[in-house]
Amino acid sequence: MKRACVIGWPIGHSRSPLIHGYWLRRYGIDGTYTKEAVKPEAAAQFLRTLNLRGLAGCNVTVPLKEIAFATADHREDSAVAVGAANTVWLEDGRLCCANTDTYGFMTHLSQSAPSWRQTDRAVVILGAGGAARAIVHGILAAGIGEVRVVNRTLDRAAGLAAYFGSNVNAWPWEERNRACRDASVIVNTTTLGMKGEGDPGIDFSSLQGKVVAADIVYVPLETAFLRKAKAARLTTVDGLGMLLHQAVRGFEKWFGVRPEVTTELRDLIVADIGRL
Ligand SMILES: NC(=O)c1ccc[n+]([C@@H]2O[C@H](COP(=O)([O-])OP(=O)(O)OC[C@H]3O[C@@H](n4cnc5c(N)ncnc54)[C@H](OP(=O)(O)O)[C@@H]3O)[C@@H](O)[C@H]2O)c1
Repeated sequence: MKRACVIGWPIGHSRSPLIHGYWLRRYGIDGTYTKEAVKPEAAAQFLRTLNLRGLAGCNVTVPLKEIAFATADHREDSAVAVGAANTVWLEDGRLCCANTDTYGFMTHLSQSAPSWRQTDRAVVILGAGGAARAIVHGILAAGIGEVRVVNRTLDRAAGLAAYFGSNVNAWPWEERNRACRDASVIVNTTTLGMKGEGDPGIDFSSLQGKVVAADIVYVPLETAFLRKAKAARLTTVDGLGMLLHQAVRGFEKWFGVRPEVTTELRDLIVADIGRL
C-alpha cells in the first residue's frame, strides 16, 4: 500500500485528505492520505524519515514550507523560484521538493479567464506573503512586464520586488485603488475575506477596460472581494481551483497516476466548505 499525507501546524483545517481520498477511490488505488500535525521544530526530522514512516511523500502547508525547501536534497525550479516547497517525494533515496502553488493558480486562471493575459497592462497582487510569491513568479513567467505588489507592510512588498527584479514594484496599501485603476488582473492573496471577515476594499467601479479579479481565499467560495467584482461585471476567478490543481503533481508522484480535476471533485469540496 502506498501512503502519503499533509503536514502542517496546525493541520485540522486541511482539505487535502478529501481531495486525495477522492482520487484514490476514483482510480482504485490501494493507498492512504492522512493529515499529520507536525511542529516546526520537528519538521526537518519528519521529512528526513519519510521512508521509515512508510511514506512516499507529503504535502507541506504553513508554516513548514520554507523548512521543507531547506531540508530537501533536490529542489525543482518551481520551489527555487519561490524559496518554499509544498510537495515532497522520495526519488532514488533523495528527498525532492517542488512548489505547485504557481501551477495551481496559473492553470485555474487560464481555465476560468482564458484571455486574462494582456502583456501591455500591469497585474496587481494584493498581499506579499508566501502565496503572493508563488503567483508573482507565475505571472512573470507568463510574460507580464509589470507586477504591482501592494501590501500593508510595505517592507515585505519591497522584499518581494527586490527578489524578482525590476518588473515588480512595491506599492503601499493606502495606494491600492490607484495601483488597480489601469490593471488587467487584480489578485487578492491577503487573508482578508477568510471566513467572511474583512475585504481588501477595492473600488471596482473606477477600473479601466477589461479586468479579471481573482481571489485565492476559498472559504467562503464567494468572498466579498469576488462578490463586489462580479457586481461590477468583472470576470472573477475563485480560490478553490488553485487548491485543486496544486494537488495534481503530488498525487502523480506518490501514487503514479496523473489525476483529473473533475466537476465531481470540485462539488465535493464545495459541499464541505458549505458545511461551515
Ligand atoms: N487557494 C489556494 O490554494 C491557496 C494557497 C495558498 C494560500 N491560500 C490562502 O491565501 C492567503 C494567504 O496565504 P499566505 O500563505 O500567503 O499567508 P501569509 O504569508 O501569512 O500572508 C498573508 C498576507 O495577508 C496580509 N494581511 C493579513 N491581514 C491583513 C489586513 N488586515 N489588511 C491587509 N493585509 C493583510 C499580510 O500583510 P502583512 O505582510 O502586512 O502582514 C500578508 O501580505 C490565506 O488566506 C491562505 O489560506 C490559498
